[in-house]
Amino acid sequence: MDDVSYSYPDGTLALQNLGWRVERGQKVAVLGPNGAGKSTLLKILAGLIFPKRGSVTVDGVKLKKKNADIIRRKFGFLFQDPDDQIFMPRVWDDIAFGPINLGLSENEVESAVRDAIQKAGLVGFEERVPHHMSYGEKKRVAIAGVLAMRPEILLLDEPTSNLDPRGRTELIAILRNLENTMIIATHDVNVASLIAERALVLNKKKLAEGSLREVFSQSSLLEGANLEVPDIAKLFLLLQEEGLSFEELPLSVREGSENLKHLFERKKR
Ligand SMILES: Nc1ncnc2c1ncn2[C@@H]1O[C@H](COP(=O)(O)OP(=O)(O)OP(=O)(O)O)[C@@H](O)[C@H]1O
Ligand SMILES: [Mg+2]
Repeated sequence: MDDVSYSYPDGTLALQNLGWRVERGQKVAVLGPNGAGKSTLLKILAGLIFPKRGSVTVDGVKLKKKNADIIRRKFGFLFQDPDDQIFMPRVWDDIAFGPINLGLSENEVESAVRDAIQKAGLVGFEERVPHHMSYGEKKRVAIAGVLAMRPEILLLDEPTSNLDPRGRTELIAILRNLENTMIIATHDVNVASLIAERALVLNKKKLAEGSLREVFSQSSLLEGANLEVPDIAKLFLLLQEEGLSFEELPLSVREGSENLKHLFERKKR
């Protein structure tokens, strides 16, 4: 994205002079408070809305209204609200809709849908009516619909919101294992640090960009953007104020426990 600004038709400014790039295969978290422009950013990338100013280039091709259809096929977009995504009266059909539209054979559709149902934890839900399902279950249907298209680039808007702890852990594991380029808008800093290697911090303008460790080390910047650091990082930052020194700020409980183990071992010697 090069110098992208976007205002909605009613005049609300959503993004201002945003420039950033994502390399193929990278997983990037987009962090920012409510109204920061995260969903707007994803919609622009997916060619659903077009910025008045600046440009978007995907795989070397400038995104324009004329070529948006072709470029859109590279992206799988998980909307923030599953009700905006699901429209078929049966789970199986909703997930199969995309693959059928891609023109896949009956066998290929069947295998793409089965695989997505498995990944999204929806085995046994195939015949259910999505609109009679819970919010978290609908979120899984929407996720399965995106995965079934096997897109090159995943645009995920709050993928873990309303999932229960197990659903959240399972989805994190799935997303970590996918090799796709991934852009994930989220409020959940723990999810961000478990899935993504880089982060863009946004509040209409770009506030910061870098590795998650770089971004989470700047606590005043995060506070200014109304964002928290993961609990485990918060603990270590507090200990640092008390004089504890460590090599790298841990971002996951596992990293934290490794870190503490080393510190205790050093103490013993
Ligand atoms: N259709 C719309 N018409 C007018 N203004 C809009 C529209 N959609 C979003 N906005 C405004 O644009 C700004 C950015 O909204 P956006 O939905 O991109 O934020 P967000 O970072 O995704 O927020 P959240 O964390 O709440 O999902 C907000 O000020 C919002 O009120
Ligand atoms: Mg949003």
